[in-house]
Amino acid sequence: MVSQDFLKELPKCEHHLHLEGTLEPDLLFPLAKRNGITLPQEFPQTVAELETRYGQFKDLQDFLDYYYIGTSVLIDEQDFHDLAWAYFQKVHSQGLVHAEVFYDPQSHTTRGIPIEVVTRGFETACQRAERELGITSKLIMCLLRHMDPQECLQTIEDANKLISNGTIHGIGLDSAERPFPPELFVECYEKARSINPEIQLTAHAGEEGPAKYVSNSLDLLQVSRIDHGVNSVHDEELMQRLAQEKIMLTVCPLSNVKLQVVSRVSQIPLQKLLDANVPFSLNSDDPAYFGGYILDNYYKVAEEFPHWDHKVWSTICRNSIEGSWCDAKRKNELLSRLDQVVAKYYPLN
Ligand code: HPA
Ligand code: ZN
Repeated sequence: MVSQDFLKELPKCEHHLHLEGTLEPDLLFPLAKRNGITLPQEFPQTVAELETRYGQFKDLQDFLDYYYIGTSVLIDEQDFHDLAWAYFQKVHSQGLVHAEVFYDPQSHTTRGIPIEVVTRGFETACQRAERELGITSKLIMCLLRHMDPQECLQTIEDANKLISNGTIHGIGLDSAERPFPPELFVECYEKARSINPEIQLTAHAGEEGPAKYVSNSLDLLQVSRIDHGVNSVHDEELMQRLAQEKIMLTVCPLSNVKLQVVSRVSQIPLQKLLDANVPFSLNSDDPAYFGGYILDNYYKVAEEFPHWDHKVWSTICRNSIEGSWCDAKRKNELLSRLDQVVAKYYPLN
């Protein structure tokens, strides 16, 4: 097995991280108190009880029920800024160099918080991360697929200015995957493209849903990558397409175990993806809920795939840089950092 020091020093990129999913239980309760939010009566009363409950999610929906209660304690621009800033500080110490982060404006606008307030809080934290920590980032606005697609279309329109000026770099689709297939959101994605033809597109697909949701996201929504996507391995033709068109899957190992997509990390079809040349990155999804940030995910995968040598890890890291939405200059910087780290630990190769 490669060393933990090597994994830590790799210049890591994260492409599947929900900023609201970084809300740690020890921040949730103080924020609820400060903002005068009454949590539901049946909600755990202490950090320890909440952590225990987080260890028992049955599936995606069970997690989402907690996740949306968590989002309800975020009110002011400063709350959003502090949340994202805490995330960036944490992952800086884990060797993260570039992050493309999701946020769910609809979980806030439906509570009367303007999209501009949410976005500004997150955006200023992203700018601060670049200035103070050297971490580059992009914001991806996700649509909640359990909501009426017409309301989602309205959200795209409300975000018109943020999409056209590039503050929102990409559009994603999250929340309960079944029974909300990608075809419901064709108009939303078309609208986003018409506002800004440069907009980047992705969607959660193939986590609990079938491989067909992955191919339909590619065909109908015209996404250039897929979040999760692990169920793609059940469709041979799709696998060939992912490899050929270099569609990256943003895989979330600890999340897949916590939401019972698989029973352990070794069952995630990472070896199949590697063998089929399907690019993937490793990500933390909702680290405060799933028990680990980016490096914890790398460590766990290394532990469960102990035969992977530095060449395999170097491929994963390279694919993750190349699949990012940063410009060529930044990609080249990160690729040379990767070469330096590999040369430091494996000078004879
Ligand atoms: N899947 C779908 N929706 C989500 C997730 C996830 O893992 N995290 C936050 N919203
Ligand atoms: Zn996710």
